[in-house]
Amino acid sequence: MPNEFHPLQGMSDIALPNINRWHEVEEIAHKIFYNHGYSEIRTPILEKSDIFLHSLGDSSDIVQKEMYNLKDRGERSLVLRPEGTAGVVRYLASLGEESLGTRLYYLGPMFRCERPQAGRKRQFHQIGAEYCSDPNPYIDAECIALQCALLEKLGLGDSVININTLGSLNDRKNIQDRLKSYFDQYHDIISEENIKKIDKNVLRILDSKDKEIQKLLTNAPTIIEMIEEDSRDYLNQVTILLRKLDITNDIKINHRLVRGLDYYNNTVWEITHNRLGSQNAIAGGGRYSIKLGKRTINGIGFAMGIERILSAQDNLSKNIHEQRNNGYWIVSDNSSIIDNMRLAQRIRHIYRCGMDLEAKSIKSQLRKADRFNASYVVFRGEKEIDKNIVTIKDLDSGDQKEFGFNDWINNLIDKKYRSYDNASI
Ligand code: HAM
Repeated sequence: MPNEFHPLQGMSDIALPNINRWHEVEEIAHKIFYNHGYSEIRTPILEKSDIFLHSLGDSSDIVQKEMYNLKDRGERSLVLRPEGTAGVVRYLASLGEESLGTRLYYLGPMFRCERPQAGRKRQFHQIGAEYCSDPNPYIDAECIALQCALLEKLGLGDSVININTLGSLNDRKNIQDRLKSYFDQYHDIISEENIKKIDKNVLRILDSKDKEIQKLLTNAPTIIEMIEEDSRDYLNQVTILLRKLDITNDIKINHRLVRGLDYYNNTVWEITHNRLGSQNAIAGGGRYSIKLGKRTINGIGFAMGIERILSAQDNLSKNIHEQRNNGYWIVSDNSSIIDNMRLAQRIRHIYRCGMDLEAKSIKSQLRKADRFNASYVVFRGEKEIDKNIVTIKDLDSGDQKEFGFNDWINNLIDKKYRSYDNASI
């Protein structure tokens, strides 16, 4: 394809045949969230910059270097949302006291101006959930269990949950002070950039890729050593509850795990899958406390990358698309087009149905039936209409059979909607 027709680097068109798999993933998500009492929210893709600056924290990589910033005609500073939590929290803040207990989920595109590579896109898509709630290990366990249920339905029940605690907000000062004084001893060998990171939010140094920092981290105090007994118990309870909820995923406590966003406290987790390459995180989440204006929203949530879900599924032989009934294709002749358009309208109340309005040769119409991925071909030309019959070919088995038209159409409608009033169809 010539370059002029390509989308921007790190962004993709999502069309056939992949779009069918996207729909399948989205349908599973809607169903699981609905069953768990979550309702959908669609927040704007474009938000005021402040929303993200205040929520994600100015030491996060996203705020530092990955946001798509733009100005509107009134010179207002706007951002293409890099993640979903901040917008949802803004909405929750607008609800006032009623927000507590609200469970919301979302699906949609996010934008991060990162260096594109396998598994890392500039426009990617997340399925996410937020539960506005004060700290409570039962809620944390339920939220992780929900995510596991989703992964299982998506065929990814063998994902690994890496879990940690960042301590409560009360622990934060102690963690900050102790880590700072540890790293202060090595001021001479630490780069300017890392010194800034340590000053701003020392937790961000814990997942540093810098070789020098990684060496220093082997002897640095871990979070678990620096937090209060209560916070340690909290994590313990969450992991015990997960086992009691029969979560079969491998749960690994990883005391070095931190998250790339500043809003987290207490429980944090990342879910990885071994079928993914270096970008092996399918999902991430945690408990947070976000202050927007005068309101502080406490909650817990997670987001999973749809592209990563699909590539983890890629190596599975399961082809969701082929398992479906892909409907009917009507083969018509020129004089029967309008009759068959009327038939297509009736079938489309229930099933997918296509036809060629140019009614070219039968061979060409059958080629189109194949491209449409139809399960059945309906032959209905002038001759069949005169005799009030129809010939149906099952494209899977190759069987072909003639039916009385009325019996066939009534049976088709009846099969699916036995309990419905067919008069309107
Ligand atoms: P996150 O870890 O930044 O968390 O992103 C969640 C997931 O989005 C990742 O695990 C990954 O699957 C996918 N993802 C992130 N960046 C990219 C990218 N450049 N290309 C492809 N996929 C990507 C959040 O966004 C938090 N808002 C999650 C959360 C919700 N925490 C609490 N509530």
